[in-house]
Amino acid sequence: MRRWRTLLAILAAVVTAATMSPSPAAASDPVTPYVVGGTRAAQGEFPWMVRLSMGCGGALYSPTLVLTAAHCVSRTGANTSITATLGVVDLQSSSRITRRSNYVYRAPGYNGNGDDWAFIRLASPVTGIATLPIVTSTAYDSGTFTIAGWGAASEGGSQQRYLLKATVPFVSDATCNSSAMYGGEVIAAEEICAGYTSGGVDTCQGDSGGPMFRQGASGWVQVGIVSWGDGCARPNKPGVYTQVSYFSAAIRSAATSLGG
Ligand code: ARG
Repeated sequence: MRRWRTLLAILAAVVTAATMSPSPAAASDPVTPYVVGGTRAAQGEFPWMVRLSMGCGGALYSPTLVLTAAHCVSRTGANTSITATLGVVDLQSSSRITRRSNYVYRAPGYNGNGDDWAFIRLASPVTGIATLPIVTSTAYDSGTFTIAGWGAASEGGSQQRYLLKATVPFVSDATCNSSAMYGGEVIAAEEICAGYTSGGVDTCQGDSGGPMFRQGASGWVQVGIVSWGDGCARPNKPGVYTQVSYFSAAIRSAATSLGG
């Protein structure tokens, strides 16, 4: 059930990416006027946000590595087909920075259920762009999170030209896995839910792979990776994110093996 939802999400992301025509924040949609309940991010507000050409988001982890979702990539190995766009909120901006990939590392054991993280290695480092540190403990796995992306601004909507952002509250595993919500579909140790019981604010197709983050002891830290959800911003269907703290040791050692 969940597996084919993920597949559908990938298809939707690929199709929308291929046909991407930036629409000025769906003024015609009164319910979800911006990125499912979000607003536009300011230039430079989240400098490490990355748009990936397959229609996903990502976060700059180091000058050559973009942390994204496993379901955004096909396999581990050499790969020069992905373009990363960085340094701008407006994907059409002439000051955007682009880099080609040269390698993809997909979480070992990924089979469409859990383990939803991956690295894209850039062919050359980017300079002058802040990176987003990942959490290394569960200390920040609650509270209020920020989400951002160029994905759909409403369920079934088109991809966005301008980066949108929103905040969502943590939802406990017990609540998220209750019969009212995901009824056991969430892998409690590896995934973290966030959203409102009433819906209205959420990540959506095309935001996958992007970071969920919050303020840590000294600035922003990445707590989650956009992974899946039932539709977008539906009541009782929070967004489900890869719980970065659970994978932080594996993520760090993969980064080292990829050259930092
Ligand atoms: N899997 C989706 C993607 O490929 C992201 C889904 C997030 N959904 C949600 N309701 N939070 O972009």
